[in-house]
Amino acid sequence: MKSNAIERARAKLNLTMDVLEVQADGYHSVKTVMQTVEFADTVRYIPGDLGIRAQSNLPWLPTDVKNLAVRAAELFARAAGIKIGGLIMIDKQIPVGGGMAGGSSNAAAVLRLLNREYNVGFTSKELEKLSEKLGSDVPFCVCGGTVLAEGRGEKLTELRPVPSCSVVICRPDFFVSTPELFTAIDSLKITAHPDTAGMLEAIEKGDINAIARRVFNVFEAALPGRQAKAVSIVKSMMLDMGALASSMTGTGSAVFGLFGDTDEAARAVTIFIKEGYSAWLTRTSPRQEL
Ligand code: C5P
Repeated sequence: MKSNAIERARAKLNLTMDVLEVQADGYHSVKTVMQTVEFADTVRYIPGDLGIRAQSNLPWLPTDVKNLAVRAAELFARAAGIKIGGLIMIDKQIPVGGGMAGGSSNAAAVLRLLNREYNVGFTSKELEKLSEKLGSDVPFCVCGGTVLAEGRGEKLTELRPVPSCSVVICRPDFFVSTPELFTAIDSLKITAHPDTAGMLEAIEKGDINAIARRVFNVFEAALPGRQAKAVSIVKSMMLDMGALASSMTGTGSAVFGLFGDTDEAARAVTIFIKEGYSAWLTRTSPRQEL
């Protein structure tokens, strides 16, 4: 294999996010339309002698099996029946704990990269199946695109790609624990759910305005007061600055805005940064085959 194999690990958004009942395995069944964006981490693999380690530009990220990318490499080696060792170098751009599947996307990138570099020849379906062991968002991250995810997130239905549009991501400065937010939602009587059927129809028609009208995340209602306020402020700012729609992604805390006009989106990023937020300009990104 090459000495410096490289793979982009793109972030995801949830255009709709609905939580249904608790499954027998303790996970919640979800119904969510997921969308990949161009905003990405970069994953490099440098083969070495023994063991697999990770290293990144964030000194506090785990370098051992606590890092999902390392677990992905170990799982891949076992499934492929090969011995591998080396360094996974991650250039982290996707905010950690932002609800953008950064860790899951790194793990999926490792699977794609090793599959290619070691000529193992797993199909995307096989990698998705394998990756269920790593986390609920990892199967989606194997190919990404525009997808309806059900079950605990592993039952994927590929959808027509959404019309390409600019996306602004802004991260209010708080950290959300995914398991805690799933638990919080159990104790609430959630009455407002996304119109997933309407979203699927809008995507099939390629109607960006109809898509925008149906953007909705049930987790926003489960946030504690101060965090809910922070999200609502960022959403209002997005809409005031010209977004067609705005919502928190996944269990947060990142908020995205869909923009029809790239100049407006770029101005929004400048304003968010001036206001002291972390913010990024990106675009929707289609499915990527292996
Ligand atoms: O699958 P993953 O490891 O990403 O999930 C993290 C945690 O989020 C789980 O341990 C569980 O508490 C919660 N979760 C859930 N239902 C899902 C996905 C995640 O309850 N569908």
